[in-house]
Amino acid sequence: MTFMHQPVGVYPGSFDPIHVGHMAIVERATQIFSKVVVGILENSGKDPLFSPTERADMMRELYAGNPAVEVRRFSGLLVSFLKELDAKIIIRGMRAVSDFEYEFQMALMNRRLYPSAETVFLTPKEEYLYLSSKLVREVVALGGDVTGLVPEPVRVRLEARYRSSKGRPAAD
Ligand code: PNS
Repeated sequence: MTFMHQPVGVYPGSFDPIHVGHMAIVERATQIFSKVVVGILENSGKDPLFSPTERADMMRELYAGNPAVEVRRFSGLLVSFLKELDAKIIIRGMRAVSDFEYEFQMALMNRRLYPSAETVFLTPKEEYLYLSSKLVREVVALGGDVTGLVPEPVRVRLEARYRSSKGRPAAD
């Protein structure tokens, strides 16, 4: 099987919320693939701050002017989502050694489930190596400033969420 000329790369994640580290990966991915499908996982088992609809809305707003980026929601297996899109490439960011075990396990499981798929790891910008959605949520919940770490509309929604409902997710 050859992976040459794969037009579509799928960048899956929880994106709760999207931060500038994710955005840097999307930008890099669009330099490699003609189309990058950002796949927002709906049923993560985690207790999300933003509902899948809210996460998709924020992301669509962000990439509205970029025809190379398509925002989709998915549930169930990632490989089923890939098949539905007729895609074979999974894009993931690898920040540090601490990410390695989880990412390696997922990549191997996905290969086992769908042997013609391949996971491609992109390295994030070094200034965002420490950045994660979990830390962003925690900083905002504790009154800290995340300006520059998330896109401005996301920062506004984050602060509103923690002010209005003490961080409870909206019903979807
Ligand atoms: O941003 P995250 O939470 O690290 O993303 C994790 C994600 C969405 C990539 C992963 O949980 C996923 O692919 N879930 C779909 C379920 C699945 O396919 N599981 C088996 C393969 S490991």
